[in-house]
Amino acid sequence: MCIFLCMKAPILWAEKSDIKIPEQEWSFQKATGTFDRRSLQRGLQVYKQVCAACHGLKFVAFRTLSDLGYNEDEIKAFASSFIIADGPDQDGKMFERPGLPRDAFPNPYPNVNAAKASNGGAEPPDLSLITKAKVNGLNYMYALLTGYTKAPKGFEISSNLYYNQYFPGHKIAMPQPLSKGLVTYTDGTDATIEQMAHDVVTFLAWAAEPELEQRKTIGVKFLIYTFIMSLLFYLSMRRIWKNVN
Ligand code: HEC
Repeated sequence: MCIFLCMKAPILWAEKSDIKIPEQEWSFQKATGTFDRRSLQRGLQVYKQVCAACHGLKFVAFRTLSDLGYNEDEIKAFASSFIIADGPDQDGKMFERPGLPRDAFPNPYPNVNAAKASNGGAEPPDLSLITKAKVNGLNYMYALLTGYTKAPKGFEISSNLYYNQYFPGHKIAMPQPLSKGLVTYTDGTDATIEQMAHDVVTFLAWAAEPELEQRKTIGVKFLIYTFIMSLLFYLSMRRIWKNVN
């Protein structure tokens, strides 16, 4: 009984919200799907130009951007466009320096209180693992980023909160981060809100699980191996039992 209830609890909890999150298509989620490199690169552009103003990615080192198809020089140049707090130096003082490939994407705020003070009392969470931390993470984040609308008549909301269809309770401290044409994609793709949301969620899915493709390749190899082994066992079994009636 307890086992049944305990297993059911998270499902009941997830179902309690009456907000329906629309499903999107994520090609990398398919059995043999891989990340679309161009979408990852566009997502990085959105993250850098928009989200990085408020969110960090503390588990993602710049050097891992080689996965996205960037070479060493490009990564060095990209890393150096971030300011990293470092130290203490020989005099015991903290100092700032340009980012290096080994650094991770920094948190834009020096501490939690500064983050809260700048955002109406709510701390923007680190986004390294966010697609995994949220229930139905990919679809939820896409819905959240595209879900800012006018509050329905009679819905009370204070001036430092924003109405979002998909945020639990509908009052979020994050102002609508995306608007049409906000970034100019270097590959010429039209920067609609939906396109930017799709790209940045793809990028954050990679950030949370950079080994996804490797895991799938191992899965496929394992299936081929199991198939060949089963066939061999079957053939040898037939041979061994051939003369036994
Ligand atoms: C102006 C600052 C700001 C920008 C820019 C910003 N965010 Fe946020 N974000 C916040 C704050 C503040 C919160 C916390 C909201 C709350 O708890 O009410 C938040 C929360 C979130 C959450 C968690 C929502 C939840 O369900 O708890 C996600 C996911 C998120 N942001 C993604 C993004 C992405 C992706 C971008 C870039 C496209 C972005 N944010 C840009 C300030 C920002």
